[in-house]
Amino acid sequence: MSASRVAIARIAALRTALEQHNYRYHVLDDPKVADAEYDALLRELLALELRYPELVTADSPSQRVGAAPAEGFDEVTHLLPMLSLENAFAEDEVRAFDRRVRERVESTGEVEYAVEPKVDGLAISLVYRHGVLERAATRGDGTSGEDVTVNVRTIPSVPLRLRGEPPTLLEVRGEVFMPLEGFRQMNAAAAARGERTFVNPRNAAAGSLRQLDPQITASRPLDLFLYGIGASDGGKLPSRQSDLLGALRNWGLRTCPDVRLVRGVDGCLAYYRQIGERREQLPYQIDGVVYKVDRFADQALLGFVSRAPRWAVAHKFAAEEALTILSGVDFQVGRTGALTPVARLEPVFVGGVTVSNATLHNMDEMQRKDVRIGDTVVVRRAGDVIPEIARVLLERRPAASMPIVLPERCPVCQSVVSREDGGAIARCSGGYACSAQRKERLRHFASRRAMDIEGLGDKLIGQLVDAGIVPSPLQIFSLQAADLEKLERMGQKSALKVVAAIEHSKATTLARFLFALGVRDVGESTAAVLARHFGSLRAVMDAGFEALQTVPDVGPVVARHLAEFFGDPANQALIAALQRAGIHWPEQPPCVTTSAGEPGALTGLTLVITGSFAGFTRDVLEDRLRTLGAKVSGTVSRKTSYVIAGSEAGSKLAKATELGVSVLGEDAVDALLQGKRPKT
Ligand code: IVH
Repeated sequence: MSASRVAIARIAALRTALEQHNYRYHVLDDPKVADAEYDALLRELLALELRYPELVTADSPSQRVGAAPAEGFDEVTHLLPMLSLENAFAEDEVRAFDRRVRERVESTGEVEYAVEPKVDGLAISLVYRHGVLERAATRGDGTSGEDVTVNVRTIPSVPLRLRGEPPTLLEVRGEVFMPLEGFRQMNAAAAARGERTFVNPRNAAAGSLRQLDPQITASRPLDLFLYGIGASDGGKLPSRQSDLLGALRNWGLRTCPDVRLVRGVDGCLAYYRQIGERREQLPYQIDGVVYKVDRFADQALLGFVSRAPRWAVAHKFAAEEALTILSGVDFQVGRTGALTPVARLEPVFVGGVTVSNATLHNMDEMQRKDVRIGDTVVVRRAGDVIPEIARVLLERRPAASMPIVLPERCPVCQSVVSREDGGAIARCSGGYACSAQRKERLRHFASRRAMDIEGLGDKLIGQLVDAGIVPSPLQIFSLQAADLEKLERMGQKSALKVVAAIEHSKATTLARFLFALGVRDVGESTAAVLARHFGSLRAVMDAGFEALQTVPDVGPVVARHLAEFFGDPANQALIAALQRAGIHWPEQPPCVTTSAGEPGALTGLTLVITGSFAGFTRDVLEDRLRTLGAKVSGTVSRKTSYVIAGSEAGSKLAKATELGVSVLGEDAVDALLQGKRPKT
């Protein structure tokens, strides 16, 4: 079918409207439409483009994600080298910089400086030709970097096409970063899934941009600010940095909203102080500010020394460390009874927050650092990481300092503390009798990667244990809404929700159940290997020390923990009672399932799940499908074999319809789980 004139005109109008909305949202920070309205326009465009594929262009707002995963990144040589900046830490160094500038430009008065936050991300170069994004590359060694075009295209604030009349060739440079809010949310979600978290927003941004699969980059909350020009041709450029930033905005490129124009070195230092005060409130992470001589003619006079310009300097913030006194040490009791020393500190302001606790990791670490109560210590706080004791100032140690001794009894339940493994780890011997261990074990049991009981979190578990209502996981399954309503901050509605989630969690997988039991050293992956190898709980329990060691991943230590755990009559009784309470999973014949590489019944299918399902949580359903060999993905693409839609299915269902991907209903789930492939 050839496209009608009406369709051509409508597609053009939709693209213009979407570009305009993007510009208002990302550059002007003044959106004029609601998200839903924007989504509706995008959906309409996608539908038209699906119908008339010959009208799809690379710069269409619909074409952000599309490329298939790559093998690696191509190397690209920058049109002009990407330089770096000289650093200054002290005010003196900044004054010296300003003096050199004034000498060289023979200025009689104060020099004007464009001042900008130094965003903590990674430098990027974007090449636009005839206004269309052609290439994006990382800085690399400054001469050549990696071609990350397909990934950069997924960043919503990067225009695929510029506005107005930019030069024919325009290379813009800036910083890709991850806003703090998005970083926190992404890390919280990863932690909840039991996955590795990123140490700081910069690593998160770099890791996200260097993904081989652009779908993954698209799912990460990346943003960027542009602050300069590399190569350019066929157009006029402004004559000052401050005007350039305005021109970039007019071309639809996003710039940092916190840039200013100041006079002289005192203007620079005042800006440094202001930003320093606002640092904790900024939505992005910075490690200093940058001062740039505003007039390009002056920049040209100043030139470069080796790899850095003489016309700019980075004024960095001091490292986030502070001195304080260690007033005491408490011991926290973990799930397996391990005691972790926590330093109590005289409150101190580090990197914008008041810190009064810091981790000491473990007894060995404490001895290695030779920490004593009364010592003056250096507290270090790096971004979102828990504060830690970096070192002790031995020269300030008071005569009355006291060595830290491991308590002989558990601070929570008074059971005897024993030291195993040559004394590295100290443990409370109380087991389920210790309320701290009980809480941690229950929390683990209910957690997302284990039994996945939504709503049964820390606070609720704390109350249930303290009130004696839930002494072991078994009592979770006899909880009634009435029991929960009596607790703090529990309305009838949330109580019913928790009870429903408990009911839902009963359908699980053997791997999850084994993990939930919390056998020492049996993590998620070991539990999965055991489930696959033995196929049934009975077989795992009956295996014994020798047979357990034949399993890949299971060495003598883990085998001993497993044998001890399953040999304990109390644990056997608990497991039997949990099964009687309704916890169940599909039994598998041993070793025939996949994940390890052998083909399963659903191998080769790429599935996407949306909505909710009556029988199980979505995570459990995904796990079961993966066990059968299917690939389960979070985003719908043309490569998706089927979208499985439960009730209240969302945008993924709409996407499937647009892309023409087959959709299966909830009624198809049973057959799939029996390993039957859909016929369509
Ligand atoms: S200008 C030739 N401006 O800092 C001057 N850089 O230490 C090039 N950075 O590689 C850099 N914010 O990744 C400039 N407002 C800003 C910046 C900035 C962050 C980064 C950039 C650069 C590094 C140099």
